[in-house]
Amino acid sequence: MCGIVGILGNHEAAPILVDALRRLEYRGYDSAGIATIDKGRLGRRRAMGKLVNLSDLLMHEPITGKSGIGHTRWATHGAPNVVNAHPHRAKDVAVVHNGIIENYKELRDELTAAGLVFETETDTETVVQLCMSYLDEGMSPIYAAAATIDRLEGAYALCFLFDGEDDLLIAARKGSPLAIGHGDGEMYVGSDALALAPMTDKVTYLDEGDWAVITRNSLEIRDAQGKQVSREMRTIKADASSTDKGIHKHYMMKEITEQPTVLADAIGHYSNAETGAISVPGLDIDFTSVDKITMVACGTAYLACSVAKYWFEQVARIPCEVDVASEFRYREPPMSDKSIALFVSQSGETADTLAALRYCAGKVAKTVAVVNVAESSIARECDISLPIHAGVEIGVASTKAFTCQLVALAAVVISAARARGVLDAKGAQELRDALNSLPGLINQCLTRKNDIDKVTVELAKASDALFLGRGAMYPLALEGALKLKEISYIHAEGYASGELKHGPIALVDEHMPVIVMAPKDALFDKTVSNMQEVMARGGKVLLVTDQQGADAARDGVWKTIVMPPVHDMFAPILYAIPAQLIAYYTAVRKGTDVDQPRNLAKSVTVE
Ligand code: G6P
Repeated sequence: MCGIVGILGNHEAAPILVDALRRLEYRGYDSAGIATIDKGRLGRRRAMGKLVNLSDLLMHEPITGKSGIGHTRWATHGAPNVVNAHPHRAKDVAVVHNGIIENYKELRDELTAAGLVFETETDTETVVQLCMSYLDEGMSPIYAAAATIDRLEGAYALCFLFDGEDDLLIAARKGSPLAIGHGDGEMYVGSDALALAPMTDKVTYLDEGDWAVITRNSLEIRDAQGKQVSREMRTIKADASSTDKGIHKHYMMKEITEQPTVLADAIGHYSNAETGAISVPGLDIDFTSVDKITMVACGTAYLACSVAKYWFEQVARIPCEVDVASEFRYREPPMSDKSIALFVSQSGETADTLAALRYCAGKVAKTVAVVNVAESSIARECDISLPIHAGVEIGVASTKAFTCQLVALAAVVISAARARGVLDAKGAQELRDALNSLPGLINQCLTRKNDIDKVTVELAKASDALFLGRGAMYPLALEGALKLKEISYIHAEGYASGELKHGPIALVDEHMPVIVMAPKDALFDKTVSNMQEVMARGGKVLLVTDQQGADAARDGVWKTIVMPPVHDMFAPILYAIPAQLIAYYTAVRKGTDVDQPRNLAKSVTVE
């Protein structure tokens, strides 16, 4: 979603702003713009589409100045065009915004009645117009920005730049994250620390409701009540090279390929250094008294939770509920104070997941974050935060974060099962060994990626596809379908194999590829029967299984991808790799924008 940067620097700001925006591209956007102050005068450039268009515009129509703000916009209110692109400006004030101003209509009506003329349909223009109206009343920039912020309802990260003020930025945060970077006689603002990584690793995060007055040599933060507060300055690890694609054409392939390494790292973090036993540092929960687990998330993170539900129930014997955050937050479910609630999110900033967490806080025994960004809002607001150690993930379609989420969740399940006495030491050791074998098995899978590439020659011609799975492979079928549709734009659905006869079988014909994710486990024979039903109707089955499964499946399978044998519990982690590769190679063949698929955003900070 929208990305924000701001700079009070000692060098020309425009190229630095564009470079910082490039580091926010992964969030997803459809237009971009910057504003700078040169000799006290505000200048602004905006362009549709990718950042290269903004860079081209700046080549032909440069703007100079050492202070500025920048923005990548993911359209919410108003079409993705130049007029609606940020920064928005009203005479002496320019603003970049991430979020949604919920009371913008009311404010706009008030300002229109007072004679102001709006040029866009955006909620953000209300912010600049309101601020300008306060400046016109004679308020100073700081007071005008404060008075504006005070009137806003909804979610926002904002950065204000004023004509005539070369050494002033006002930043505000409510609902959308905002980081302030400290340089040497320079200061920066960014939607995340990654945007600021080449400039500084010293970052102060604004808390909910905070707003800040920033100059090159000072930072003054006030909370929502206007009280001056101090917020900790942290040193962030996000190094500038994390956003490098390396030898890969796409971030997605880089991130798929990184999985053996990051998984080994994640497993290491969840293993006792001396005994090697699976343990979760900081998981201060008495699982013997936990009566239920609730897991809430969105997108791929939700599907990781859906896999873990099987584990919590089968391995730890705890009743478990999973929901998408956008439904959960308004469902008003009764919560037990003996239950724990887990919020799984790569970014740690997803608006719906954050709202679900706020609903649960105080109602359950403990809230637990399972996040990739350790400093994120969800991490900071939960009682316990478990990092997944996936490293920076740039591709919009989540890959390594999914498998690392599953590793963290598996570690919680194993710890809970041990604490509840339903898993003995031998069983725990078996699971530990199986978990430790995963990086090697993923490596084996990756050596066969050319075989998967070949299969996609046919898949890329399809307009629809079905993914089937049973047990914990059912959510993986959903994940396979989600990956394929989000990056190749092929309509794909995931189904529980046993549900096939209750509807989707009507779609099956010779044009419909059916991808069956089925290791040779206890449920395999049942899935094979469902597969036969597809083949009997002319459906093309792509079977992803192990050698035993391939041998046991009868004739008629269109193609088989043979996987290394894996412990049943962790098959959804290993089989995520072919699901990711199928989507990737299909999308590459179709020539779609693999890393930034149309209309999608990486970090969804609005409802
Ligand atoms: C977006 C992304 C998905 C992601 C989902 C949840 O839709 O495109 O890849 O799974 O948000 O994001 P989160 O950061 O909460 O895991």
